This record gives sequence, structure tokens and C-alpha cells, in this order.
Amino acid sequence: MRIGVLTSGGDCPGLNAVIRGAVLKGTKIHNQEFIGIRDGWRGVVEGLTMPLDRHSVRGLAKQGGTILGTSRTNPFEGPHGGPENVQHTMDRLGIDALIAIGGEGTLAAAKRLTDAGLKIVGVPKTIDNDLDATDYSFGFDTAVEIATEAIDRLRTTGESHKRCMVIEVMGRHVGWIALHAGMAAGAHAILIPEQPQSIEQICEWADSVYQRGRAPIIVVSEGFTLDTMETAHSEKGLDAFNRPRLGGIADVLAPEIERRTGIESRATVLGHLQRGGVPSAYDRVLATRLGMAAIDSVMAGDWGTMIALRGTELVNCRFEEALGKLKTVPQERYDEAAILFG
Ligand code: F6P
Repeated sequence: MRIGVLTSGGDCPGLNAVIRGAVLKGTKIHNQEFIGIRDGWRGVVEGLTMPLDRHSVRGLAKQGGTILGTSRTNPFEGPHGGPENVQHTMDRLGIDALIAIGGEGTLAAAKRLTDAGLKIVGVPKTIDNDLDATDYSFGFDTAVEIATEAIDRLRTTGESHKRCMVIEVMGRHVGWIALHAGMAAGAHAILIPEQPQSIEQICEWADSVYQRGRAPIIVVSEGFTLDTMETAHSEKGLDAFNRPRLGGIADVLAPEIERRTGIESRATVLGHLQRGGVPSAYDRVLATRLGMAAIDSVMAGDWGTMIALRGTELVNCRFEEALGKLKTVPQERYDEAAILFG
């Protein structure tokens, strides 16, 4: 069999380790041939490929980003999109099956293509850790490590100046990165999309910390909004192309805290730093195992499924089970963290 591998959607530390795991097990154990699809679904639609063999994946486990490139192309759009065209391109390139590594959007496209008869196995990817079907997704641990280290560093500069430091982390719909990094770094407040908080409560936490002679540390997910300040936030939250812009809520919160409490405040948006660079050891191992499990699924012909982590085991689940369900931070996890606020 000739197996195409693609990475699609936002990049994520560990993507290369998945590719390596799949190729090494696929060539060494199953004696299969691979081809790299460049730039996500765009490569499938336009037939963009690169060689992918045992030698090209050497030393890849620790390398950030994706050697295959990625894009947010939808394979159903454009003149060459749609299942018939994609199948035609795969036939032309002699590709029998695909391993698609990506998040919700990638897996949704993979499901539609599989429903139309294409042979695809998925590997879930998101630093946000918001796919309900899998306990943890690779990239999350690395993002939490990076955010924790950044908060530790911001604490020392905050303490020196007695400033309130507001740190914005990624997490469009859910607050897992904020919760874990905030707990690890001892934040005085953690603000996440799942849990509304008033500006009055946030200022109260900041002020009580400041009154003890400390510098308040407030960690906020990019997806957190303040109802009362929605207009200001959404105005700031769109970029020149009218897309949601990274950064925004911390830039709104810090001056508002300063205005209301008189505590000098600074905003830091960590942004794509959380997605760049080497994956953590945990993510390398998880990603490698996912890649190896994906090739086993291909060999078993488990089309329309993705690999999920349940506890420490990897299991197969159907795309429909995995899609459309966000894994939000449960109330009890937030309440537990909130004991430490203020
Ligand atoms: O879904 C992962 C993620 O990193 C989100 O946390 C963030 O909102 C988004 O991707 C950023 O996307 P882009 O790289 O396209 O700006």
C-alpha cells in the first residue's frame, strides 16, 4: 500500500513525532510505502507531495512544527475540491489511503470524505485539549509548560515593580491551558471562557493580593469575554481581515484593572510562542504512539476512525463520536483552582 500522510489546521508541537511513529512502524513492521502530502488538504486537492521514508523521519521526534507544512484549506472548496476530485488526485498519485493529522475541522473534512468512500484514518491534534473523545491531545502539555515558564518569569518582573500582570494564553473555546498553567504557576485568578466573572470580582482579587504587598498574576484564556465590556473587546478582537485576532482580552483587562484599582498593570499575550519549538517528552511519546496506532488502523482498514487516548490506552473511535463535542473545563476543576485565587 502507498499511504499519504498530511497535517492540517494550526501547527502543534508533536506533529513530526506522529509522522515519524507512523512511518517507522509502517515501514519496519508492515512493510508499507509512504508519501508526504504538503500543506494539509491543499496538498490533497492540488496534488502537492514530498518523499517520506525511514530516512526522512530520522531525528524528527523533537522537532517542532511539521515538515509537511499545513494550511486551513477545506478540501470541499474550490474548483478541484470535493470527494471525486480528491479521489482522482489520490489515484493519479497512486495513494491508497490517508492518515490525516489535525483538529476538529480536519477531522470533520476527513469524515465527509470517508462517507464518500475515501480511505482515511485520523489522528487528533490540538494544543487547546478541547476534543471530548480523547483525554489529552499532544501539544497541550508543551503549551502548558511554555505558558507556565512565561508566567514564572512575568511574576519576578511584576513583583519587582509591584505591578498587576495579566497574561493571555491560547484557548479559543475552552480554558484548559489557562487552568493548568495558572495552577502550576500559582496565579491569583484564572479566567476562562466557561466561567463568567465580573470585572468587579477580578479587581477584588487583584486588590487583595496587592494589599498583601504582592504583585497580582491574572491568567486569562483568549476566549474569555467580559459581558460588560463586550463591545470594546470585539472591536479589538478582529484583525484587518475581520478574523478573530490573537490578543485582545488581556489588552482590555489590564488597563481596566489599573483604572479601577489604581494598580499599575501590564498585559502580555503569549500567542504562537505556545505552539512553537520542541515538544515536551510527554507529547513526543504520546504523538509517537498515536502515529504507530494510526498505521495499525490503516492496516486493519478501520476507515473513518481516529485514535483516542483513554487513560493510558489508545483506542479507535469513529469520527462521528469525536466530532462536535467540546471538552470544557468541568465546574469542579474550576472550583478547585478557585480556592487558590486572590
Ligand atoms: O486551535 C489552536 C489554536 O492555537 C487556538 O488556541 C488559537 O485560537 C488558534 O489556534 C490560532 O490560530 P492561528 O494560528 O490560525 O492564528
